[in-house]
Amino acid sequence: NSYSLAVLPGDGIGPEVVACALEVLDAAEARYGFATRRETLAAGANHYLATGELFDAVEAPLRAHDAILFGSMGDPRVTPGILERGFILEMRQRFQQAANVRPVRLYPGVPTPISGLTPERCELVIVRENTEGAYVGRGSTVHAGTAHAVAMQESLNTRAGIERVVDFSFRLALGRRRKLTLVHKTNILVAAGQLWQQVVAEVSASYPEVEVDYVHVDAMCFHLPLTPERFDVVVTDNLFGDIITDLGAVIQGGLGVATSANLNLDGTAPSMFEAIHGSAPDIAGTGTANPAGAILSLALLLGHLGEGEAARAVEAATVEVLGGLPALAGPDMGATTAELGSRIATIVREGRA
Ligand code: NAI
Ligand code: MG
Repeated sequence: NSYSLAVLPGDGIGPEVVACALEVLDAAEARYGFATRRETLAAGANHYLATGELFDAVEAPLRAHDAILFGSMGDPRVTPGILERGFILEMRQRFQQAANVRPVRLYPGVPTPISGLTPERCELVIVRENTEGAYVGRGSTVHAGTAHAVAMQESLNTRAGIERVVDFSFRLALGRRRKLTLVHKTNILVAAGQLWQQVVAEVSASYPEVEVDYVHVDAMCFHLPLTPERFDVVVTDNLFGDIITDLGAVIQGGLGVATSANLNLDGTAPSMFEAIHGSAPDIAGTGTANPAGAILSLALLLGHLGEGEAARAVEAATVEVLGGLPALAGPDMGATTAELGSRIATIVREGRA
């Protein structure tokens, strides 16, 4: 099997952790007998500062690939919002990456701030609607800058947009513990909430094996850390999903291990895979970034391409190396970024995972 892959290393620690992921990919190809053609594209804050180019400049080349491996973008010299709106949100929209999938797993040996939590109890996936909701960026302010300023911020919710991500979530649940939880605030955000509830009820008729549950987003903030075993697949809108996935990342041990897929669900454009951390300018170049998030995003990418065996091996090797670290980040990590990447690659190459 052969695939084509676009690589967007980006800024800061992005190129450092992506280099590790590519070394692990080389190992997986050697071990599991598939191949990738890779094209590395310049994008991000440094590229923007040098050229003024944002997503437009790479849209056409990105489209030609089967999947995108993304590092991270951001730099204090670029006004906040320019890269988010001009690149990341733009890619999600134009490539219709409708489902943001965030596994929340506590890996053995990884410290969590939730006392008494065990890996067996923390094994869920959050599916965040990725193209609508409050993130469409529509709004208006009247009397701006005065004592009478009024800001209105809109949230877009379409039946079609909800249906595709809900249907995807039910299918995901079918291959897991067969439970789907809708998270929303239906008692207050009544219009959007009713549409979400209706769609979940309708789509559930096609998946009678899947149990359906509902939790308000505020209640979710205590259920998720305290009783994560209640959840298998969680589906929610763009804004609630952004918030509860960060809570999920905290539970599973932090930015170093959390990872995500931005999936195009209709085959019209490539899906994108990334660690959830940013460019970490404070530690860039010091060799202290943990590459686990980026390597776990590679595992998601391989699973998406259909290389399930390689995906499981990459994940298992990463978990094994993570579990042996004295600290997940910083100078106490016990190894450099590149050393961790090589350790994981070696385990994959030798088939020891
Ligand atoms: P950040 O995730 O880059 O860093 C937060 C803290 O965590 C920092 O102290 C950093 O050193 C540490 N950290 C992050 N990843 C780490 C890793 N793999 N290993 C060890 N330590 C790690 O978030 P921050 O500081 O809020 O943002 C920095 C820049 O990144 C900003 O320009 C922001 O816009 C951008 N950003 C980009 C994202 C993306 O490309 N998807 C996501 C989040 C932020
Ligand atoms: Mg976020």
